[in-house]
Amino acid sequence: MPKVLISDSMSNIAQKIFEKNNITVDVKTGLSEEEIIKIIPDYDGMVVRSATKVTKNIISAAKNLKVIGRAGAGVDNIDVSYAKENNMIVMNTPGGNANATAEHAFALIMSVLRKIPFANETTHKGMWEKKNIKGNELSKKTLGIVGFGNVGVRLSNLVKGFDVKVLVYSKSLKSRKEDYPHVEDVSFEELISKSDIISFHCKATKEGKPLISKDHYKKMKKTAYIINAARGNIVDEKDLNDALNENLIAGAAIDVFSKEPAKENILFNNPKIILTPHIAASTSEASVVVAEMVANQICDFLLNKVQKNIV
Ligand code: 3PG
Repeated sequence: MPKVLISDSMSNIAQKIFEKNNITVDVKTGLSEEEIIKIIPDYDGMVVRSATKVTKNIISAAKNLKVIGRAGAGVDNIDVSYAKENNMIVMNTPGGNANATAEHAFALIMSVLRKIPFANETTHKGMWEKKNIKGNELSKKTLGIVGFGNVGVRLSNLVKGFDVKVLVYSKSLKSRKEDYPHVEDVSFEELISKSDIISFHCKATKEGKPLISKDHYKKMKKTAYIINAARGNIVDEKDLNDALNENLIAGAAIDVFSKEPAKENILFNNPKIILTPHIAASTSEASVVVAEMVANQICDFLLNKVQKNIV
């Protein structure tokens, strides 16, 4: 009977699906690399979110592992090429948490525009800052979306009722542009200079090089906001902090960090930045969908050799 390890916390629907398919499943979360290395030879499959780093050392020790499943989209916590070299397949659950992530990006956009965190904090303290809080409206603004996969597309659809101009920078948009008449396909430079809000929904570069540099900030509107709910290294944290301190842009909202969990970070306590702890995909609804998808895919692979959503 195949055996699967779930090493990150996720909906228990995954466990139930494995059990229903007579696959032995162990849920062991919060393990160190050394602890995983000790137990991993027992398993045929492994399920992770983003907390477990599936390193070369873990893959080398995983003598029976055939499949690594990511309950979510990003696989940057998994050494995918080394896993492939070692005849393992890696699968994810594209689209499973796209709406959750897009809605969080939207919530961050509205929060920066209407200064919700500051208003909340001061009102709780009885400070009544009504005169000092003047927000901006999303309507009639230009939203720049970088990356147009499941999340970027969903965000572009979510803002449809807001009379927003949507600019998109995506290498793959040209070939499928007719499916998205509500967005404009632009260069990165054009998006940077024309957008009031720039929201990142792309993968990080392989080399970890940030997509936005100091020079880009100088070309942005001084009233512009940056939203990053994709991956931490897409926006260099020091450059962003400098750009805000030099008033090159108005503010930012960040859900992802160069190092997670973020216990220390240059962005902490900058009043122009709203921070959330990588929770864009963390909704009750999405966590069930991704757990269900990954468990079904792994069962299908281990029992019937069906390969779905391979990265
Ligand atoms: C993803 O890549 O799917 C999202 O960033 C969510 O990551 P999480 O599963 O760690 O919340």
